[in-house]
Amino acid sequence: MFNTAFLDVPPLASASGTVQLPGSKSISNRVLLLAALCDGHTDIHDLLASDDTHVMLQALATLGCSIEHTSAHTVRIGGLAGQLRNKSAQLFLGNAGTAMRPLCAALTLLATTQGGSFELSGVARMHERPIGDLVQALRAMGGMVTDLGNPGFPPLRLGDGAVHDLDLSAPIQVRGDVSSQFLTALLLALPLVAKQDVVIQVVGELISKPYIDITLQLLARFGVHVHRDAWSTFTIPGGSCYQSPGSLHVEADASSASYFIALGAIAPSDEGVTVQGVGLDSIQGDIRFVEAAQAMGAVVTGGANALHIRRGAWPLKAIDLDCNHIPDAAMTLAVMALYAQGTTTLRNIASWRVKETDRLSAMATELRKLGATVVEGADCISITPPLSDRAWTTAPIATYDDHRIAMCLSLAAFNPRHLVTRINEPHCVAKTFPDYFEALFALAQVVPGRVPVICIDGPTASGKGTLSQCVAKALGYAWLDSGALYRLVGVAAQTAGLSTAAQDIANPSHAQALGELAASMQVQFSGDAVYLNGTDVSSDIRTEAAGMAASRVSALQPVRDALTALQHGFAKAPGLVADGRDMGTVIFPNAPLKVFLTASAEQRAQRRYKQLISKGNSANIDSLLADLQERDARDTSRVHAPLKPAEDAQLLDNTTLSIEQSVDQVLNWWQSKQVL
Ligand code: DC
Repeated sequence: MFNTAFLDVPPLASASGTVQLPGSKSISNRVLLLAALCDGHTDIHDLLASDDTHVMLQALATLGCSIEHTSAHTVRIGGLAGQLRNKSAQLFLGNAGTAMRPLCAALTLLATTQGGSFELSGVARMHERPIGDLVQALRAMGGMVTDLGNPGFPPLRLGDGAVHDLDLSAPIQVRGDVSSQFLTALLLALPLVAKQDVVIQVVGELISKPYIDITLQLLARFGVHVHRDAWSTFTIPGGSCYQSPGSLHVEADASSASYFIALGAIAPSDEGVTVQGVGLDSIQGDIRFVEAAQAMGAVVTGGANALHIRRGAWPLKAIDLDCNHIPDAAMTLAVMALYAQGTTTLRNIASWRVKETDRLSAMATELRKLGATVVEGADCISITPPLSDRAWTTAPIATYDDHRIAMCLSLAAFNPRHLVTRINEPHCVAKTFPDYFEALFALAQVVPGRVPVICIDGPTASGKGTLSQCVAKALGYAWLDSGALYRLVGVAAQTAGLSTAAQDIANPSHAQALGELAASMQVQFSGDAVYLNGTDVSSDIRTEAAGMAASRVSALQPVRDALTALQHGFAKAPGLVADGRDMGTVIFPNAPLKVFLTASAEQRAQRRYKQLISKGNSANIDSLLADLQERDARDTSRVHAPLKPAEDAQLLDNTTLSIEQSVDQVLNWWQSKQVL
């Protein structure tokens, strides 16, 4: 996951390959609650791991359910059999509507009938998201609910510690035109207390009907068969009782699929994009996004558990569509509209206003930043793309703590002007798809020559390693420690029994053999660990001997040539910080930013001295200084890849700077090169 303040998505040119999508949020949180309410154990396979399921799992654990991760993809929930184990608790539910609404209903009924008391709260935005219609329905049947903040919004207290009866004889009325989650919440909760038939009547036109379908299908999997009369009356048969299906598989998220369906529709590609984990027979309503994407020009074929998408019509075709059945995925249509000819209008999406943010206003604001003409209606949005390729613009995209805004707007990176698309707070995707950007970058290819690369070089002990790592971290870029590659050659030579002694490597055929060895190395960087041909050599490459060997072999042209392709391979989206000798001169000569970091020899000797002392080693400042000066002289005068700044490098003398100041300076230089 990208935990940076912003993520610059480089201009993208094409996309192909297969993405395995994470589990559906809607199915995951419903199944978790159902498993928690029924008797016995339920093994849930491919559960979504995200912020929203995390808060639900936390809440269930607090309520006394057992939760066991039995394998990487399976969670075993031990249910409560409809009986409160803990009669009071405070539950924090973040911004997860799929946790807040159903838990509110289920805990109100359990607390009221069994004498419990629970407090539900969330983040500030959750306290602005309506729940009053659900609370009113619960109160009407005798459920005890107290507003702890603004009436009609969380936080809430459910139950008052005493036992009360519910009156379920009259039909329970609930509004269906604000959020379908109110009805879902009642449908999931009422089987707990349905001694006789319980009837729910929907008041107003029910929105997002497919989500109710998911609820009904999952209820049936847990043994409760609700009778539905049109979309207005729902009857839970008296004597209904939850029964665990034993095990259950969570489909991939159809809303998350929309970004990759759009990717396939927008990006040129021979092979197309394949989405794994969800197919055309999905129980999720957002699967009907496929029809909308097809109407815009996408060529979509699908089987039971996968979809394949290719670009069809180009530019895409503008559409005018009632999106009430696909409210979440419809946001992706709004971004596809940027690539369409004409004006696209998405209608009947008033629910956008009460989601993670006011999505109608947010989408209008952000799409305008890209050069689109947007008309925002009370319950609709019209998008006319930039009038020409040159009319596309860019500016940092605000994401309002809304995962879907971050994900759908990242597709603006296919803009014809090849502008960078900056997504602020990219970590908000963790709500439903923590690795969204990694998945996008695994499929999409950057416009040739446009992978951002920052090269950082400098003399020994200048702090370039630390600076490079910090800059990479701030931008979410990969870090290439090119020195480590030469150290790896030293270690590989030792393992292969090839000498790296000065007198041996002077022989051209020996140098050639070392070059071939370097070319054959299988190198993998994983976090802080380095693997050579599958073996962890992280500490071996840091020894003094490996450093000396690296220094000798790095002077050999065959070795340098052998590592060139390997180093080029590190330049991938979203970007790279390359640290080392010839990064800006030979390996990435076109890098837009090259930094040559220096500090006085005295200062560098001081730093190394402190470093050694802090590790409990003895050190002598005068001999350290002499060593540094000798190494500077050797590094500067060597024939191949001598230490010298690239001609277009920015010089950064950090003798008197803190690491933070140096990082800020590099980030400022980088920022000044961006058209943002
Ligand atoms: O930065 P370091 O100490 O890990 O580098 C090991 C050796 O490799 C050092 O002698 C410099 C050399 N080197 C090089 O020649 N070219 C690079 N791109 C990086 C390091």
